Amino acid sequence: MSLLGQHLRQKLVIICCGAGGVGKTTTSAALAVAAAQDGRRVLVLTTDPSKRLAEALGVTANTPDPVRVRPEREAEAGIRPPGALSAWMLDPKLVSDATVRRLVKDPQRARELMDNPIYQQVTQMIAGMQEYTAMEALHGFVARDEYDLVILDTPPARNALNFLDAPRRLGEFLDGRIFQMLLPDRDGRGFGGTTRRMAGRVLSGVFGEEFYADLQVFFSAFSSIFAQLNGNAQRMRQRMQQDDVVFLLVTSPVRTALDDALYFEDRIRELELPLGGLILNRSRHLAEHRPMPGPELLPPHATDAHHRALKALQKLAERERRHEAEHRELVDTLVQHAAKDIEVLTVPEFPGGIDDLEGLGALARWLLDDAHARVRD
Ligand SMILES: Nc1ncnc2c1ncn2[C@@H]1O[C@H](COP(=O)(O)OP(=O)(O)O)[C@@H](O)[C@H]1O
Ligand SMILES: [Mg+2]
Repeated sequence: MSLLGQHLRQKLVIICCGAGGVGKTTTSAALAVAAAQDGRRVLVLTTDPSKRLAEALGVTANTPDPVRVRPEREAEAGIRPPGALSAWMLDPKLVSDATVRRLVKDPQRARELMDNPIYQQVTQMIAGMQEYTAMEALHGFVARDEYDLVILDTPPARNALNFLDAPRRLGEFLDGRIFQMLLPDRDGRGFGGTTRRMAGRVLSGVFGEEFYADLQVFFSAFSSIFAQLNGNAQRMRQRMQQDDVVFLLVTSPVRTALDDALYFEDRIRELELPLGGLILNRSRHLAEHRPMPGPELLPPHATDAHHRALKALQKLAERERRHEAEHRELVDTLVQHAAKDIEVLTVPEFPGGIDDLEGLGALARWLLDDAHARVRD
């Protein structure tokens, strides 16, 4: 059985990461289908599924709990009890509300914080907050014990590294000068220091008195729960280092995505997190020795137009060939770069996209086929 197959059978947590747009959400969902077909109770936490994929999984935003795929749909997709597939769309607002409720013991104060107009705007703006909430959600579901496997599709961070850096980045933001300026004076004696006084005047000028007051209330409440958030984040990172967790890195054969992936891989190692595989999505490496279009395609009395058409066709075919050669080299490079126990899986472009359970099933079969995996020898 491929290493990926073993992960799907044995692990409790699988985290799919990579740059935006490479196919993380699709891959996560396909892996969830595969594990459920194998008889496991699986939950996939998705962040930004396409509309059709969300429909296929039966998820909508803002549901407080995961939604199980309807049993008849499960059966059609080859999932039979005890196997089950549930999905949940990660909603940063919902998760941060739950976090606030848990951390702020006084319900009145928790309510105040959540009703604060700033809170509603700012939770998504704070760098690292979305990544942090993803970890929170994951942690919560793992602790619940209702699932044999939880698959996390990481948020669409511009840079995949944000995800691992969440606690530090959140910390930087909260310790940062701008944030400190927004905090009301701790001893309540008005502004301390000329800078703070000036900043206060500028900010209330910019935002208006009322909004500035809201800002201060929000940030002071928020700073008091930060220590706890940070502690949680550290604990979660430790949790992610255990051997029932595995990270999968998804990438596509595009320079920027690859650069991100290689750098990300080094960081995963540095943080001592378990990297279990590298998935090169939308690769053309498999097409080999396809015949080039030649004069045999021309009709007996070919006109100039026929010849021009053939030329155009040949150009296209040559370009395709170059792509294929590039992708083959890329797979070699990735395999050489990866550590010995890391599988490199290549996935082609599926014509028509992948946005229903059948498509996910097809992708799952591809991913689990040993013929598509390579390990450094
Ligand atoms: N191998 C593939 N073949 C065809 N379409 C794909 C493939 N992988 C992903 N897609 C499509 O590409 C789009 C983006 O994929 P998605 O999984 O949402 O990326 P990400 O989550 O990394 O941003 C989706 O519409 C998905 O259906
Ligand atoms: Mg996504």
